Amino acid sequence: MRKSVPFDPAEASRSLIYRLEEITGKPIEEILTGGYDGELREKLSKVSLAERELELPLPYLTGRAYFLDLELYVGPGVFIPRPETEVLALTVLDHFDENEPRRILDIGTGTGALAIYLARRFKKAEVTAVDLSPVALRYAEANARKYSLSNIRFVLSDVYGALHGCEKYDLIVSNPPYIPRNELKKADPALSWEPRLALDGGPDGLSVIRKILRGLDCHLTPGGSLFLEISPLIARPLEGLLIPERHDLEFHRDLDGRIRVAHIRRRYP
Ligand SMILES: C[S@@+](CC[C@H](N)C(=O)[O-])C[C@H]1O[C@@H](n2cnc3c(N)ncnc32)[C@H](O)[C@@H]1O
Repeated sequence: MRKSVPFDPAEASRSLIYRLEEITGKPIEEILTGGYDGELREKLSKVSLAERELELPLPYLTGRAYFLDLELYVGPGVFIPRPETEVLALTVLDHFDENEPRRILDIGTGTGALAIYLARRFKKAEVTAVDLSPVALRYAEANARKYSLSNIRFVLSDVYGALHGCEKYDLIVSNPPYIPRNELKKADPALSWEPRLALDGGPDGLSVIRKILRGLDCHLTPGGSLFLEISPLIARPLEGLLIPERHDLEFHRDLDGRIRVAHIRRRYP
């Protein structure tokens, strides 16, 4: 089992190129071959002004966001996928062969970033993606159509609420809302543009995570894995919610060395 998440410099520079192209409306070749003229300079300063003054995230201006190799539709009302979640996706990839997970559940799918990424990597898997926000699901469905995926379905659901009985999955992933409510006030002002439902993890940041954990016996196959995106702040409290006889826990860190992913494995009975 490999634990490191590889940093892909090509991926990082691709993201930078997309961003420059978006801001300028010009292809990178033109920018690099001396296209940095007065008009271009003016555009760059206008966009950075909008970003600075309004703190409006660029993806809400352009309607596009990038997640690993995906280009996704976004807009106000849906969470903008983040690089931290790319760490989760790559950690999952590190743990499975391409034929391995057959039934995957993504809880709180937002734009569908994780679900779509995994549906493209694990072609034999059936992916279910749930969200409590109908707006988010509209974006997710549009994004799945864009990639012509037939192995993915979207369900409006409060965590497992709308699933049939104890539908079982061998892989569950989630980037749930996990910011403790009182931390939200201190958070980056740019976050105020994003749906509160996507961020607010309740008084201790663990409200949705508790619901996810409570349903594991019913929805996760024995030996199956849950990968959760978390912040270092909630890593230890999360550990306290697990039952050591039933769950194994492993943390994974991001490139800055911060705990970002909790891998919880359901033990065989
Ligand atoms: C932090 S966002 C993550 C979105 C996406 N997975 C990503 O990583 O970009 C959390 C998502 O969980 C959804 N959500 C919040 N509470 C939920 C609940 N009780 N049941 C299902 N989804 C929920 C929000 O609507 C939001 O889309």
